[in-house]
Amino acid sequence: MNPVIEAYSRIASEYDHPRNIESCWGSITQHSLGLVTLRDGHKTVADIGCGTGRDLARLASASPPDVRFIGVEPAANMRSIAVGRTAHFPNVRIIDGRFERLPLESQSIDYLYSILAFHWTTDLGKSVAELARVMKPTGELDMTFIGRHNGREFIRKTTPVFFKYLTPATMIKAVSLRKQMTLEAATALFRTAFGPPGLSVTESYHTCYDTLEGHWGWWVRIESQLLDIPEAKKAECEHAVRGAIATLATDKGIPYTVHLLHVRLRHEELTERAVSQDCTHAVERTEMVGFGHKEL
Ligand SMILES: C[S@@+](CC[C@H](N)C(=O)[O-])C[C@H]1O[C@@H](n2cnc3c(N)ncnc32)[C@H](O)[C@@H]1O
Repeated sequence: MNPVIEAYSRIASEYDHPRNIESCWGSITQHSLGLVTLRDGHKTVADIGCGTGRDLARLASASPPDVRFIGVEPAANMRSIAVGRTAHFPNVRIIDGRFERLPLESQSIDYLYSILAFHWTTDLGKSVAELARVMKPTGELDMTFIGRHNGREFIRKTTPVFFKYLTPATMIKAVSLRKQMTLEAATALFRTAFGPPGLSVTESYHTCYDTLEGHWGWWVRIESQLLDIPEAKKAECEHAVRGAIATLATDKGIPYTVHLLHVRLRHEELTERAVSQDCTHAVERTEMVGFGHKEL
């Protein structure tokens, strides 16, 4: 039993609601999808943690029919929406599975991408070993997931509230459901599986401004603390947490800064990549207000 996967299965029917798509996470998903680069040689493509299959359907509709897409998704209800959405693409297959144990043949994947799912793995070491196992020696990848410094504004405001409703042990258990790595930790982890040539890990910060309701819709999903609040205290705790977040309001709205890590593997451009492996790159920062998205 994995509480995160169960939670995703429970909210599957709301996942594609415009409120979610227009939210901060919708913008970050869009940004991540922009990093996905399909090339002519990519004939077998995998999307791990494919959710409701929106990204797969978009990529499949823009690709030749001989490109085979495989979506791997552990949450049953997310998976069935993905199956329905991609049913008219004979070259798309959606299967049950997770990072920790990928239901894919060894050395079978030309291109693997994953958007905002890897932070939910329960075992980082096993998962990168699985990723390395399924990739062809010429395989390429793009993965985005949240990093250690994610959502600092909200954490500062809500942690004192959560401590009133949860014991330190329950807080630690809830927070440890997410694996939020620093850039250095993610670089070291992926290097163990892929080695330096062609591998780069970069980070970026994206500040999203929204209303309390706009943030609340997605935030409650990623904040696993709320899953552990005793039922009798839930309404009271939610009220207090919303009050704490509301105090962050500015003229532009309430800010939430996403710390995004991007793991990229390429077998061309090796010289260029070698430069960015030392983590001394310029950190990208963006601001998103509602639908607006401006580079800082
Ligand atoms: C934020 S959603 C992203 C879905 C999709 N990639 C998108 O861009 O809309 C995270 C997804 O990761 C899945 N997930 C959770 N734990 C996972 C695991 N251990 N391995 C693979 N996927 C996982 C969830 O079920 C959920 O569908």
